[in-house]
Amino acid sequence: MQKIVILTGAGISAESGLGTFRAEGGLWAQHKIEDVATPEGFARNPKLVVDFYNARRAQTAEADPNAGHLALAKLEAEFAGEVVLITQNVDDLHEKAGSQKVIYMHGALKGALCAACDTRWPAPMVMAPGDACPNCDRPTARPDIVWFGEMPYDMDEIFDHLAGADLFASIGTSGNVYPAAGFVAEARRCGADTVEFNLEPSLVGSQFDDIRIGPATETLPPWVDEILKS
Ligand code: OAD
Repeated sequence: MQKIVILTGAGISAESGLGTFRAEGGLWAQHKIEDVATPEGFARNPKLVVDFYNARRAQTAEADPNAGHLALAKLEAEFAGEVVLITQNVDDLHEKAGSQKVIYMHGALKGALCAACDTRWPAPMVMAPGDACPNCDRPTARPDIVWFGEMPYDMDEIFDHLAGADLFASIGTSGNVYPAAGFVAEARRCGADTVEFNLEPSLVGSQFDDIRIGPATETLPPWVDEILKS
């Protein structure tokens, strides 16, 4: 086995205290997606949106990576082949755990983006609506988060990685949001073995060769040790 491609979702950060989206009482039960995670919501009420991500940035700054994140960083450091880590999460817990290269397909809380000229720069801890872009000086700064209706980042690179994968692992994601929910089908089509880690089978769970049920902090460390010993 030469290449392992991993997709993570909110479930891997749940045990670090960051809430998931679709759990009972999760983020999408507390906030309307169309208000805080769409370009139209931002146009209607930028303060509501910026405050939502400010709160999440503050919460993320307090959070520590857990045994699941650490296991994936160990895999990247010690596996003889290539490990590609793609995350839908906008927190930085993979990096805090020591993962060297993370593809943030849904953007990142640590980033700011100019809605006018597409310049990206490190976000301050607290953004304000109307913050100026350091490049074009217009008051068009926004969180560098991919909202519904926008194209996720690095899709060409991701599909190239899926095409070359020997093993595809999906961790802590519900399979509700495309294109990420379609990665398992693509990896299978290209010949990869597939494994899902979740508390319960996801919406696309039936497409995986193997499902490991349980909290990621418990299921990932032994899986990584299995791979490193094989
Ligand atoms: P969801 O909240 O939809 O799903 C989280 C998944 O993690 C569920 O399937 C849970 O069963 C699982 N889970 C929870 N705790 C776990 C644990 N300790 N170990 C393993 N699995 C666990 O979150 P995502 O699938 O990441 O996008 O959501 C995908 C996208 O939808 C997000 O990136 C976000 C959201 O809207 C945008 O904001 C663009």
